[in-house]
Amino acid sequence: MARPSMAAFSPLLLLLFSAIRMALAITDGLLPNGNFERGPPPSQLRGTQVIGSTAIPSWETSGFVEYIPSGKKQGDMVLVVPEGAFAVRLGNEASIRQRLAAGAGGGAARYALTFSAARTCAQAERLNVSASGQSALLPMQTMYSSNGWDSYSWAFDVVAGGENAVDVVIHNPGVADDPACGPLIDSIAIRTLNPPRRTNKNLVKNGDFEEGPYIIPGTKWGVLIPPMVVEEHSPLPGWMVESLKAVRYIDGDHFAVPRGRRAVELLAGRESAVAQVVRTVPGRRYAMSFTVGDAGNGCVGDMAVEVFAGRESAKVAYRSDGRGGARRGVLEFTAAAARTRVVFFSSFYRTRSDDMSSLCGPVLDDVAVVSVRALRPTPAKRG
Ligand SMILES: *[C@@H]1O[C@H](CO)[C@@H](O)[C@H](O)[C@H]1NC(C)=O
Repeated sequence: MARPSMAAFSPLLLLLFSAIRMALAITDGLLPNGNFERGPPPSQLRGTQVIGSTAIPSWETSGFVEYIPSGKKQGDMVLVVPEGAFAVRLGNEASIRQRLAAGAGGGAARYALTFSAARTCAQAERLNVSASGQSALLPMQTMYSSNGWDSYSWAFDVVAGGENAVDVVIHNPGVADDPACGPLIDSIAIRTLNPPRRTNKNLVKNGDFEEGPYIIPGTKWGVLIPPMVVEEHSPLPGWMVESLKAVRYIDGDHFAVPRGRRAVELLAGRESAVAQVVRTVPGRRYAMSFTVGDAGNGCVGDMAVEVFAGRESAKVAYRSDGRGGARRGVLEFTAAAARTRVVFFSSFYRTRSDDMSSLCGPVLDDVAVVSVRALRPTPAKRG
């Protein structure tokens, strides 16, 4: 193939060309071989154990990593793979790594990683996810979905003028007695997050939850937004999960979503709260409106969402028939400070009627805070 010589490009063109190429280097969706459907050659497998750190195409592995076909038996348990026919298992201190080209300037952005994971033993497991010098330990102690698989998300920043490549690493820091006790991993995807903005109509950023991590097509369990991550690492721009357990990010393809394509399900009662700090003017009156509903996922019964704006609060009851529905709630409040924390959580736990083991709860969508002055026209002066 004939290649134009470098001299054919003006430096400016070359710069432009590389910036465009770099910006496109990370595309939304599965990472290359992110679903592990391409596996090691037979010579680099001993049973299920992967031999050689570059045996799995597009990945570098370290430690005891297994390549697991769907349907593999472990004791009396059959391992099911959420996407395709293969997944990997990370044993004690094992990790998988992939290098993504980010690029000077062009790659500067916040990215959300999404991956599916399943525990294979009853013990508490954690995964250390890292990229670009940032890391987080994501707890997997609670299974939220019925088949044992959940998808997790985490966000990291790539700064302008920083590194040209980002290593995404998932590491099992565990030291279980049984090496076959590590978690299964599948479907690793990435999405560039658009920075959320408050508008003059709504002081809440990303109030409709439309901006968030990649949801792997075909997964019926949404994506967990992990608890206790600071805003910088929240895969749900603008929002934080403040409490001990995750909230679930859901999509309209698999759940009833009150408005738009995305919403959050508050699935762990008082242990999972979403929060945002909103800029307010002390003494001014505001109205916070929001939608409470159910995800149409068989979560049946009385629900209640507790809402806080600073020190003021409200409780909105919602009766779910589990088939999707919603109502609007409003909390009017007077700002006490220049920053007002708004918080939402579910008053109690529920489990799905079709599957008592999986947690579910009310859905929250379409949160808006507006100055009441902006809502009510000042009455005309009487003569
Ligand atoms: C997680 O991984 C990162 C990157 O390898 C490392 O710097 C960090 O110390 C790890 N954290 C824990 C708790 O193991």
